[in-house]
Amino acid sequence: RVIPVLLSGGSGTRLWPVSRKSFPKQFAPLMGDRSLFQASAERLSGPRYAEPLVLTNADFRFIVTEQLAEVGIAPAAILIEPAGRNTAPAILAAALHQAEIDPDSLLLVAPSDHVVPDTEAFGRAVDQGLPLARQGRIVTFGIEPTRPETGYGYLELDGEPRDGAAPLRRFVEKPDADTAHAMLAAGRFLWNAGIFLFTARTMIEAFRAHAPEFLEPVRAALAEARQDLGFLRLAPEPWDSLPDLSIDYAVMEKADNLSVVRFAEHWSDLGGWDAVWREAQVDAPAWRGVIADERSTAIDCDNVLLRSDDEDMQVVGIGLKDMMVVATGDAVLVAGMDRAQDVRQAVTALKSKG
Ligand code: GDD
Ligand code: MG
Repeated sequence: RVIPVLLSGGSGTRLWPVSRKSFPKQFAPLMGDRSLFQASAERLSGPRYAEPLVLTNADFRFIVTEQLAEVGIAPAAILIEPAGRNTAPAILAAALHQAEIDPDSLLLVAPSDHVVPDTEAFGRAVDQGLPLARQGRIVTFGIEPTRPETGYGYLELDGEPRDGAAPLRRFVEKPDADTAHAMLAAGRFLWNAGIFLFTARTMIEAFRAHAPEFLEPVRAALAEARQDLGFLRLAPEPWDSLPDLSIDYAVMEKADNLSVVRFAEHWSDLGGWDAVWREAQVDAPAWRGVIADERSTAIDCDNVLLRSDDEDMQVVGIGLKDMMVVATGDAVLVAGMDRAQDVRQAVTALKSKG
C-alpha cells in the first residue's frame, strides 16, 4: 500500500490575514467546514493507502493530532521539524525515515493546501503511477493549465502521454510571467500538481545525485531524533544548518527520471485569495464575478472577493473592480485581484514593523 506523506508545515502567508503564523491556512476551514489538511488526509485514506506520515513543525503539532482525530485518522508517525526549511528536507526526512522500515516503500507526498474534489479519480491516477514508481521513476501529476500562472511548476511533456503516463522532458518551477505565457501557448506543458509518488530509495538516490548537501544533516537530525508524546522530534542542531529550499528546486528541476500522470479532474491550490475567489465560482458562478459572504455586501462591484471572518465585522464594497477585501477581528486586507501573490510581502513588512 502507498504511504501518504502529508506536508503541513507551510505558513500560508499569501492567505493573510485569515492564515496566521500560529494557525496557517491548511488548518483553517477556508472552504466548507473541514480544513484543507483534513480534506487531504481523508482523500488519502481507504484501501489503497497505509497510515500517513505527517511532517509539520512544533507549533502545529497539537492542531495536527486534533484535526486528524476529528476525521478518525491515526498517523503512522508525526515528524516534527525544528524549523521550517521548506519541502526538500521534509521530504528527504520522510524518505530516510521510511527507508529504515523498507526502502521499497511507496511514498505519496501531498501538500495540504489543495482542493481535489474527485477522490476516486485521484486514486486511479495514483494507480497509474504505481508501476512507474516501482521502476524507480519519480511520478508527478499534471494538470491542464488554464492561465499563465506564475505560482506553479510546469511539466514539459516528452511526446504524448501513453496510457495516461508519460516521461517528462523538463520541470520548470515558478516561471516568470513571460515564460509562463510562452509555455501556455506552446501547449505541451502541464501544471505540476505538487503531488509526487516514488519509493523511499528513489528519492534518497535523487538527493544523492542532485542535492547531496541535504543528506548528512537530515540523516543526523533523524538519528538524534527524540520521541516525545507520540511525536518524533528531529534534532535541531543539524537541521538548522539546512538550506531553505523546496523539493521543486532541489530535485525536480534537475532529475532525469521524472514521469507524469495526467490528472484531468478538478484540482486547485488555494495558494492565494485569487484562488479562493476563483474556486468559489466553480461551485456557483457568481453574478459579475462577485463572491461575498453573509457578512459582506457588494454594491455595483465586478470581480470582487469580500470576506469577513469576524462576526462583528461588516464589509461593504461599492463600485469596486478586480479587488479583494478580507477582514478579521484585528486586520483588513485590501488588494488588487492581480496582486494576490504579493500578500506575502505584506506579512514580511508587518513582521519588520514588529
Ligand atoms: N512539513 C513542511 N515543512 N511542510 C511544508 C514546508 C515545511 O518547511 N513548507 C511548505 N510546506 C507544505 C505546505 O504547507 C504545502 O502543503 C506544501 O508543502 C507545498 O508548499 P507551498 O509553499 O504551498 O508550495 P507552492 O504551492 O508554492 O508550490 C508547490 O506546489 C504547486 C502546486 O500547488 C510546487 O510543487 C509547485 O511546482 C506546484 O505547482
Ligand atoms: Mg501551495
